[in-house]
Amino acid sequence: MKARVFSGIQPTGSPHIGNYLGALKNWVKIQHEYECIWGIVDLHAITIYQKPEELRQKIVELAGMLIAIGLDPAHTSIVVQSMIPAHTELAWMLTCATPIGWLERMTQYKSKAQAQETVGDGLLQYPVLMAADILLYQAAIVPVGDDQSQHLELARDIAQRFNSMYGETFVMPATSLPSVGARVMGLDEPDKKMSKSSTGPNHAISLLDDPKVITKKIMRATTDSNPAVDFETMGAGVKNLLAIYQAFTETSDDHVKAEFDGLRYGDMKKKVAAAVVAALEPIQVRYREITADPGYLEGVLKASAERVSVFANDTVYKTKRAMGLYTA
Ligand code: TYM
Repeated sequence: MKARVFSGIQPTGSPHIGNYLGALKNWVKIQHEYECIWGIVDLHAITIYQKPEELRQKIVELAGMLIAIGLDPAHTSIVVQSMIPAHTELAWMLTCATPIGWLERMTQYKSKAQAQETVGDGLLQYPVLMAADILLYQAAIVPVGDDQSQHLELARDIAQRFNSMYGETFVMPATSLPSVGARVMGLDEPDKKMSKSSTGPNHAISLLDDPKVITKKIMRATTDSNPAVDFETMGAGVKNLLAIYQAFTETSDDHVKAEFDGLRYGDMKKKVAAAVVAALEPIQVRYREITADPGYLEGVLKASAERVSVFANDTVYKTKRAMGLYTA
């Protein structure tokens, strides 16, 4: 039997090249090697207020994007988290086995809570729901970007604690990070991770940005006071651009060095922009074709939900039995 894989992405903002290089590109690569389930995690999205009409639309658009990047719905499941009630059922059972102090220590909770006037309970429970997403499918591997590492450690801690309280119930999930692109930084602020919520016009490159916009954003990216690429002294901005190039073109360190050493920043940026445009253009063409037929996407989401509900319900049943809850 193939090992199972789960990972998720929130249907908020517009997916950017950080999401793509940190996670999505890997999803495509491993989809035939494992039994994969990819979640559009709308229940995580609502931990911060979302305009309902917009959220509904973004869920379907994200499904279209996941297919456009190359996920094959005939082989891999693309599910909307809220369509499968087992996610929330398991999350409650895990909540009851999770010490609150573990949640208060999460760095994403601390930074997101700071930005809110009132902090909803969902924001604190966020990583428990994430643990439920993974443990529900007994996933052995979780391919994510580096910013999710702490949440995944917590998922393992919760699984371990549950197993020791109630007996072996959950598979221990391993984190899988890409070797290049695990943390893509903002183009305007290379000391901050590229994020959907940042508002700067040149911060992130959306997977749907027009080629001209992509090029403009890269040409304006923050570098440093050197005139040309110097691998000994380059700052975070240049490092980030070269990592983006390397991740998109899948070339070796030696190749990148030979290609860029001593190149003036203007020329370096032109090459990086050309590589990003070349990779994203075909995705954008497919995206437009796929989203022209919303009926197709609805069918994919429904079929996937039906397929995975069998495993999901099985885990909920096992967990209820382990905890002594009533199962008819
Ligand atoms: P989300 O929606 O913020 O991001 C989706 C994926 O993109 C990665 N990522 C990045 N990688 C590299 N550089 C960046 N700048 C960058 N920004 C985002 C993220 O690491 C992630 O892999 N909590 C998760 C969603 C989730 C999930 C799960 C993930 C819910 N349940 C279970 C794994 C397993 C999130 O908000 O991802």
